[in-house]
Amino acid sequence: MVEFKVKDTGLAGEGRVTIEWAEMHMPVLMALRRKYSGEKPLRGVTVAACLHVTKETAVLVRTLKAWGAEVYLAASNPLSTQDHVAAALVEDGINVFAWRGMSEAEYFWAIERIASAKPDIVIDDGGDLHVTLHEKMPEIARDVWGGTEETTTGVIRLRALERSSKLVYPVIAVNDAYTKFLFDNRYGTGQSTVDGILRATNILIAGKTAVVAGYGWVGRGIAMRLRGMGARVIVTEVDPIRALEAVMDGFEVMPMKEAAKKGDIFITATGNRDVIRKEHMMLMKDGAILANAGHFNVEININDLEALAVSKRKIRPYLDEYKLKDGRRLYLLAEGRLVNLVAAEGHPSEVMDMSFANQALATLYIKNNRGKLEPRVYRVPEEQDREVAMLKLKVMGIEIDVLTPEQKEYLSSWK
Ligand code: NAD
Ligand code: ADE
Repeated sequence: MVEFKVKDTGLAGEGRVTIEWAEMHMPVLMALRRKYSGEKPLRGVTVAACLHVTKETAVLVRTLKAWGAEVYLAASNPLSTQDHVAAALVEDGINVFAWRGMSEAEYFWAIERIASAKPDIVIDDGGDLHVTLHEKMPEIARDVWGGTEETTTGVIRLRALERSSKLVYPVIAVNDAYTKFLFDNRYGTGQSTVDGILRATNILIAGKTAVVAGYGWVGRGIAMRLRGMGARVIVTEVDPIRALEAVMDGFEVMPMKEAAKKGDIFITATGNRDVIRKEHMMLMKDGAILANAGHFNVEININDLEALAVSKRKIRPYLDEYKLKDGRRLYLLAEGRLVNLVAAEGHPSEVMDMSFANQALATLYIKNNRGKLEPRVYRVPEEQDREVAMLKLKVMGIEIDVLTPEQKEYLSSWK
């Protein structure tokens, strides 16, 4: 019997066709699904996944189910669930506990709900499921074979858990695979963040001054795409090497206190808190737009914004106006949550194809290495990363050269 709590199971038909569309654009994951469906390598395995409930996530969890797993799914953000997808997944026999607009309490209730299924393998995006298991359900956590982590912020949290010797099961840092962060974080977030800003505001990017906070993989992608659409882009950083890279990539770099006076659109992509706070808001132009692409809604200090505002009103979905005492208006997108997943649909399927191929293969790796891994944070095995890249090139119809024996010898020789 499928267990679930979703918005409306009547939306399943609409969800089904959108999942089919995603499947068509995720050929690597689909090839892996077909490859292992016969042998059912996850038969008898319970997987709990805390992921954004999107059409791409649907392709992943349907793959795990096709491999024999019993899957429990909760949302990794209260505002990112695509309700029609959640409904279709229930029809597919996935135990789903997710709906768009859940409260903080409901969000954690859903996470605890899937954790109480006593999973053998745990898939997470952001670390809330891993942390809940460690803090609140240690007796269940102890029996987990292993887990995976999808995003930079989650990996940072898990490394902190590892450093404090509190990590109780091995975790594969899927985020740190080259075939994940180089593409998903950069091109996926680059495109989908612009998509989210446009769907929420429909502003013209050309001619605007955009401020991107953080020049990591996500920030680089956003800065690159905004420049491509004609924005003048300013980057803020705290890391001197990344700041220098931004300068040499042709962006203006300055502290947020300076950038605050100049920006029309601000996008945070740091994984850090309070990157835009009162002292910056006080300096912003009338009409400035604030958006976040980092994992948690802590990068723009919303309490500061609320405290500064004399009134607030909704302009359109995911676009809130805050009027300040002096009459200036600041516009917050998607309540400061991941703008690409809340105001748009997250990364396009083609890029999630690689991220989720890595997730699926990491799940098999955990199953096959059950009991052999220490409770540590591991990188994705190099062979897996290369396999995903090769498969992606293949489905794109791209061939590459192969080293000759002489070249191999040359590259391994010190002479
Ligand atoms: P990253 O570590 O590569 O980059 C973060 C950058 O922010 C670093 O260069 C760091 O020096 C900088 N930074 C930190 N504090 C700062 C501050 N106060 N001001 C300016 N810069 C600061 O990480 P990433 O992979 O780019 O990920 C960034 C965030 O985006 C994380 O929270 C990650 O989980 C999230 N993420 C979101 C999506 C999405 O779909 N929206 C996708 C991937 C990652
Ligand atoms: N993270 C970013 N984009 C995503 C998507 N389309 N599905 C699931 N997780 C995501």
